[in-house]
Amino acid sequence: MKITTSTTIPARTELTVIPVREGEQPKNIPKKVQAYLEKKKKQRVFTGKKLTTTLYDEEQQVLFIGLGKEADEDLLRKAAGIAAKTARKQRVKRYAFNLQEYQEYAQAVAEGSILGLYTYKAYKQAEEDEPQDPTHLTIITNDEKKTREQAERGVIIAEGVCLARDLVNKPASEKPPLTLAKEAQRIGKKHHIKATILKKKELKAQGLNAILAVGKGSENEPALVILELNNHKKEQPTVLIGKGITFDAGGLQIKPDNAMLDMKSDMAGAATVLATMITLARLKHKGRIIGIMALAENMLGPGAYKPRDIIKAYNGTTIEVHHTDAEGRLILADALSYAEKKYKPQHIIDLATLTGASITALGYRTAALISNNEELTTTIKEASKKTDELVWELPLRNHYRNMMKSEIADIRNTAKTPHNYRPGTITAAAFLERFIKNTPWAHLDIAGPAYSYEETEYTPTGGTGWGVRLLTTMINKNR
Ligand code: BES
Ligand code: ZN
Ligand code: ZN
Repeated sequence: MKITTSTTIPARTELTVIPVREGEQPKNIPKKVQAYLEKKKKQRVFTGKKLTTTLYDEEQQVLFIGLGKEADEDLLRKAAGIAAKTARKQRVKRYAFNLQEYQEYAQAVAEGSILGLYTYKAYKQAEEDEPQDPTHLTIITNDEKKTREQAERGVIIAEGVCLARDLVNKPASEKPPLTLAKEAQRIGKKHHIKATILKKKELKAQGLNAILAVGKGSENEPALVILELNNHKKEQPTVLIGKGITFDAGGLQIKPDNAMLDMKSDMAGAATVLATMITLARLKHKGRIIGIMALAENMLGPGAYKPRDIIKAYNGTTIEVHHTDAEGRLILADALSYAEKKYKPQHIIDLATLTGASITALGYRTAALISNNEELTTTIKEASKKTDELVWELPLRNHYRNMMKSEIADIRNTAKTPHNYRPGTITAAAFLERFIKNTPWAHLDIAGPAYSYEETEYTPTGGTGWGVRLLTTMINKNR
């Protein structure tokens, strides 16, 4: 869908969207439409309450969307998602969104419109009478230049999110580690991102044994992808690291039935890292950024790593394997210490669909945030407020760290516990922390929000692209 701006409603517009403040009557609308709205108000059908709608569908179509008493960025994003889907449902090609009273939210409107329309199209044939996406959205504004700039930014960011969604939604068999690595390289090349792929041989040579161990049970070899933006710059980079388990069968300790069903999404962290890099490049971001995708398939082939195996990780730490399904922290361990050693970053952020426990703690809409640095935590929380990608901080303390002690190795990969319950999200982070020496680091456990089971205003079911907007907002502030 193409998004343009105008100060007036273009002649071929089939549907106009008008946001309504609760209890207020929108100005400059035809008498008939005004009467319709009065009636809906009297009947208490539509009074402008948050994200309620009413559609006037006579000689012209007007969609009113309530914004309640006070609007904010995410409310406009949601309204735009609802509007775009209504346009599709009404089989409208060209629609307009009157933003004159909310001009500062043009970016959010562009984002919500594109994100709301997203569906995963690669494998489904269109049904004969299926409604088509609208082709044209005009944002009505008094300041075309500013609105255009903001909308363009919104489109780039939303397209980044859609890229991450596409990668997550792709079937696992179509994206084994090397295939995904090459895809990242191909897309990166278009945007002047340098991509280096470390294959099995290089992983061995470098001593990235934890990634290798996880990959052993699969006929598809593991890989580490390093993406670099502005690599000529001398400054200390920001490093983003993503868990990229292209399929998590659990390893020898295989996942039971339904627990395996959606494990094609276990590479969502890596997808978000790639999509964020592309987005930053398209926004002509000036700083130096490094993205690392740690890729492996956690299978149970004859070569699979076993419980009680001991792995010597890249930084020399020995890890006793207590559960083959706690594989994400193993590949991240190598990626974290490798990043710290090679790139001396100003900070490292990792994203990982790491623990089911994070869903037990926070549900499907909130990522767990655990960090060794307050300033970094604050920056992430601030960006999170703007993008409505929710995070909640969990603590890291010695008694959690102690749960990861092993008798015969430096650390174990799952926590010791006297019963069946364990603070699994925190102990996973306590594990990861061991692979960072002194760099400010934040860990986002996105097992919940990376994949959606419930359609919302601008997020359909399946891969959500969680984190692309948050990281982009946090990193690219100089606009
Ligand atoms: N990829 C899973 C975590 C996960 C679970 C993501 C549900 C999305 C939805 C991870 O590798 C895993 O299997 N974690 C185990 C750890 C356990 C063995 C300590 C878990 O959470 O059960
Ligand atoms: Zn697992
Ligand atoms: Zn996993």
